[in-house]
Amino acid sequence: MLKEKIEEIRAQAAAAFKAAGTAKELYEMKVQFLGKQGSFSGLMKEMGKLSVEEKPVFGKLVNEVKQALEVIYDNRENELKGQELAQKLQSEALDLTLPSAGTPAGSRHPISIVIEEISSILARLGYSVRTGPLIERDRYNFEGLNIPKDHPARDMQDTFYVDQSHVLRTHTSPIQVHVMETEKPPLRVIGVGPVFRADSDISHSPNFHQIEGLCIDRKVSMADLKGTITFFVREYFGKDLKTRFRPSFFPFTEPSAEVDCQCPICSGKGCRMCKDSGWIEIGGSGLVHPNVLKFAGVQYPEWQGFAFGFGIERMAIIKYGIDDIRLFNENDVRFLRQFSL
Ligand code: PHE
Repeated sequence: MLKEKIEEIRAQAAAAFKAAGTAKELYEMKVQFLGKQGSFSGLMKEMGKLSVEEKPVFGKLVNEVKQALEVIYDNRENELKGQELAQKLQSEALDLTLPSAGTPAGSRHPISIVIEEISSILARLGYSVRTGPLIERDRYNFEGLNIPKDHPARDMQDTFYVDQSHVLRTHTSPIQVHVMETEKPPLRVIGVGPVFRADSDISHSPNFHQIEGLCIDRKVSMADLKGTITFFVREYFGKDLKTRFRPSFFPFTEPSAEVDCQCPICSGKGCRMCKDSGWIEIGGSGLVHPNVLKFAGVQYPEWQGFAFGFGIERMAIIKYGIDDIRLFNENDVRFLRQFSL
């Protein structure tokens, strides 16, 4: 009787294991037949009714059947897991031969581009680049540039003071003083970098950039200055533009001149950029003041010099027709991307 029941359960279990379609279903079947509350456990309770001789025979049979079912289970489980894995691999297949989406290339900041363009034009005239500290001693930002304390020229530049004797440099001219103090003439150097002024509106930013040239040699005149700047303007704007010099004042140059060039946007005909004048102001210049040379230890009049300085944002604005200086600091990729090569 019991033996037949065992065979029946074995047949049912074997069939159920084979019919299971997933590993989960299969496991549920295992619990149903072989688990603690399963069919075999039920049978074991009936063992009590058996005689002492029958009990071990019966027990052995149950164990054999259970072991046989475990084998069937394991085989089926391997089969199902294999199928599931194959399916998963197929549905998640990657085509490694497809071309990639590509890595978008960034672009250089227009200020960096202008610095490099200006430096490389002047490099052809023998100039090489120098930088200097952003926090300057009063001595370099003012005193060494012939701007003594209480001199009204200090009002020309709205200075950020760090303490009594240190400022955020208001221009790149202090680089001139450092170079003349540490290097021997003749000199042809470019001073470049960020400068700071307490000034902010659509056309003024509290931090902007300047680039300036300094030439020290035995005989230097306004004609040399003019020739250098005229060459530079034509190279930088890529057009045969005229340059003009208007008398001006800087404490560190004498004589001093404001530099205008014909408007590169309209070539001098008159447009919005030049306010219909045909001319555009690009910077300051002059012959290095003897006081500045002497302060830095350069023998005057044996050695003389000229200097000129441009605002870099302004040079970029004029060249690329940018209408808002704030764009340089916003890092809007739609703006920056236009300068990619
Ligand atoms: N340092 C001057 C300024 O910031 C520019 C300048 C440089 C003028 C060199 C003359 C010579 O306005």
